[in-house]
Amino acid sequence: MKYSVHGQESVVYRNDKRFRLLITAGPTQEPLDPVRFISNYSTGTMGYFLARQAQKLGYKVILISGPVNLPLPEGVKYIPVKTAEEMYRETRKFFLKSDCLIMTAAVCDFRPAKLSQQKIKKRKYLNLKLVQTRDILCEMGKIKGKRVIVGFALETENLIKNSREKIKDKNMDLIIANKVNRRESPFGKNNLKPFFIFKDGTMQKIAVSSKSRLARTILRKIEMIR
Ligand code: CTP
Repeated sequence: MKYSVHGQESVVYRNDKRFRLLITAGPTQEPLDPVRFISNYSTGTMGYFLARQAQKLGYKVILISGPVNLPLPEGVKYIPVKTAEEMYRETRKFFLKSDCLIMTAAVCDFRPAKLSQQKIKKRKYLNLKLVQTRDILCEMGKIKGKRVIVGFALETENLIKNSREKIKDKNMDLIIANKVNRRESPFGKNNLKPFFIFKDGTMQKIAVSSKSRLARTILRKIEMIR
């Protein structure tokens, strides 16, 4: 059943069961020693816009977030995490109780193989050994059932081809693909020009869109998918 609240379309499920949306946002931080970590440029904006927008639409929202500098959206259950492994554990915990997962988080693909208990002292060269972190989306894709899974892709080359592979490999329904190069980067930028790629391989080019507008478009697409 759909109804309108303050001019916004809101959605209630049969038996008044609210749509349960799990969102991950921000970067992860992978510690190297007590004072250092490796991370990335993610600001978390896209995930926080989605959380705010979904909450306004009446969804039940859980936001699992890496460290960011953003105000918390009201009415959202907030779970702060730091590392990819913590984000995996929390996502796994709430995934089966959700109807949809949107992974906007920029999860670090690598973490230092060894966490030094002492501060690593300055030296001329330091060889760092990194190991792969767990792929959260891939793991959730294996236990997806009827849930909707939405991911994001960042590519410096072969954007469409690589994103099509990711949607298949990780069992997603929709991937929002963004290009990164010297001129274009979604990090900290408000306007994006992404591609939507669907499970059946179809593609939609999105006109330049602010992140808040894009959040509304993504939620509408999810409504259509489920
Ligand atoms: N992702 C994830 N767990 C990881 C890495 C990525 O769940 N360890 C998710 C991201 O949140 C995103 C999607 O997978 O929604 C694609 O992320 P992206 O960084 O574009 O690709 P990767 O799968 O990490 O592959 P690569 O870095 O080789 O392009």
